[in-house]
Amino acid sequence: MSFDVGAEAYDRFMGRYSVGLAALMAELAAVQAGQRVLDVGCGPGALTGELVARLGPGAVAAVDPSPKFVTAAQERNPGVDVQVAAAEELPFRDHDFDAALAQLVVHFMADPVAGLREMGRVTRQGGAVAACVWDHAGGQGPLGVFWRAVHELDPDARDESDLAGAREGHLAELFAAAELGAIEQTLLAVRVEHPTFEEWWEPFTLGVGPAGAYVSGLADGDRDRLRELCRELLPAPPFTVTAQAWAVRGRA
Ligand SMILES: C[S@@+](CC[C@H](N)C(=O)[O-])C[C@H]1O[C@@H](n2cnc3c(N)ncnc32)[C@H](O)[C@@H]1O
Repeated sequence: MSFDVGAEAYDRFMGRYSVGLAALMAELAAVQAGQRVLDVGCGPGALTGELVARLGPGAVAAVDPSPKFVTAAQERNPGVDVQVAAAEELPFRDHDFDAALAQLVVHFMADPVAGLREMGRVTRQGGAVAACVWDHAGGQGPLGVFWRAVHELDPDARDESDLAGAREGHLAELFAAAELGAIEQTLLAVRVEHPTFEEWWEPFTLGVGPAGAYVSGLADGDRDRLRELCRELLPAPPFTVTAQAWAVRGRA
């Protein structure tokens, strides 16, 4: 539901961080020319574009349950097979790909183990299955300051720290439960510079993801208080946000 938003809103809120993760994910999965690779939960296509640059459009497929994101990913990556589908039920044959990647998706899957198992099913034996989730539990994701401010004002607010894969070691546990082999965990980090506070804050008001949904549900005065507390907690602009994601690579 919280991803029923336009691609531009997503780009401004989360795409600004996820685009920098794409090359790191491709490296983690050792994506190289000649392979055929699947992007699961592609959104508007941050990782899809990186895969196309490495493999060419004919060697990339992508899925996402959000029709708006699928349309955007198709428009941005002509020639890629982009379909509306969820990880838990991938519309591909067994062993169809050399690798399957899910960037910032496992924590939104209805059944993360089933989704990862499906990624293993469509990957050739020994091929890479890789996923990453922001370190929300450690407060080191891109939304750390936002959720800290939320909790100061609203201690009972539900943040994203208990979502699947968002704490150290949990993504690897999910890979093991999905019967993937050769599991290795690492941390990926991206740095994004924010020229002004407003440039950082305004995308939180666009309703994207759990943070956007939280802001959308606030009365005007509460939203203003949250914005001003965020301003106090952040360094003076321009400032850089360093965002870390737990990442795991396994083998089908
Ligand atoms: C934070 S976005 C990540 C998008 C993109 N991978 C990126 O890195 O920018 C999470 C995406 O997961 C998708 N999603 C949610 N549930 C999913 C599921 N069960 N299977 C696949 N994708 C799912 C959402 O529609 C959304 O596009």
